[in-house]
Amino acid sequence: MSNPSLLILPGDGIGAEVMAEVQRVIGWFGDKRGLAFDVSEDLVGGAAYDAHGTPLHDDTMARAQEVDAVLLGAVGGPKYDDLDFSVKPERGLLRLRKEMDLFANLRPAQCFDALADFSSLKKDIVAGLDIMIVRELTSGSYFGEPRGIFEEDGQRVGINTQRYTEAEIDRVARSAFELARRRNGKVCSMEKANVMESGILWREVVTAVHKDYADVELSHMYADNGAMQLVRAPKQFDVILTDNLFGDILSDCAAMLTGSLGMLPSASLGAPMENGRPKALYEPVHGSAPDIMGQGKANPIACILSFAMALRYSFDQGTEAARLETAIEGVLADGVRTGDLLGDANTTAVSTSGMTDAILAK
Ligand code: NAI
Ligand code: MG
Repeated sequence: MSNPSLLILPGDGIGAEVMAEVQRVIGWFGDKRGLAFDVSEDLVGGAAYDAHGTPLHDDTMARAQEVDAVLLGAVGGPKYDDLDFSVKPERGLLRLRKEMDLFANLRPAQCFDALADFSSLKKDIVAGLDIMIVRELTSGSYFGEPRGIFEEDGQRVGINTQRYTEAEIDRVARSAFELARRRNGKVCSMEKANVMESGILWREVVTAVHKDYADVELSHMYADNGAMQLVRAPKQFDVILTDNLFGDILSDCAAMLTGSLGMLPSASLGAPMENGRPKALYEPVHGSAPDIMGQGKANPIACILSFAMALRYSFDQGTEAARLETAIEGVLADGVRTGDLLGDANTTAVSTSGMTDAILAK
């Protein structure tokens, strides 16, 4: 049997710097754990534009459709700000998401105890927090028709349409239930079925899909109450399933329960491929951070945690993912900090590669 395949797209700025660290982590798993991947590397974003005049070459797009998982750093930077919209670095990322049809966006909110002081909430409310928001990414209010600004009775009207088909709700609900099975077996679905028909349909379809996942516990919550519960007692949740608009807001809110942008991984999943694995793109939430690029200051943890998500959700290596996460937790507990995590004056910052050294040693 051939090794699972990974396409690495470092991109621009610190994207390339943190991805170099992930390559070391991948190498470690090959050497020490016998976990070998067929790794190929290619260009995306500004780097691809510089080489090919397009932020994503067709050959790269085709390769992304074939591999078991894509790992992306970040795209963009001031150098590309004046480019025409059609070739902007972001277009490369958007094309990947669209053509791979990645409809389930996974954003974990995980609080490492050593960083609990970074949270805006009290330490005991967030310490040990580990929840996952599954946001529908390809439909809903950001895509529904009609949309636009129209003239009506002598004044302008702005219109967006919250629209979901049964099939769209069904497939993202399945992603959430599958995830819950690999986690703590609970899904809380959030909509506004009290005031929105799309919410009524959402609740009906999720309830119907749940029949295929009777081992997972399902609850429903109105999204506004969900927002309150997220900041009141976030540890009550395991997987939160929600639509594109509510998920945009709830996932940003949940992310900030845990502190720094340099710590936040994400995954976007699509339909299962022939081998049963979902199409998948893993990437840190942060951008290319031009203000710190080339200085060895970037925190590689968000990107390394994105690889841990790939281990768990694409490659059925939950134990190895936990091994990596435990090492990161241990390193943070030891007080190892990149600059973005410097909360107090007693610690000094390690470099990007220094952080990886510590994680691999642990
Ligand atoms: P950013 O996420 O790149 O940076 C925001 C702030 O957080 C900066 O001060 C940066 O130094 C810091 N930061 C981010 N990641 C860090 C890390 N790993 N370690 C330490 N500090 C970190 O967002 P910004 O500045 O708004 O955008 C910069 C460029 O990145 C723009 O061209 C933007 O379009 C692009 N971008 C790309 C994204 C992607 O590829 N998914 C997402 C967000 C922005
Ligand atoms: Mg947002």
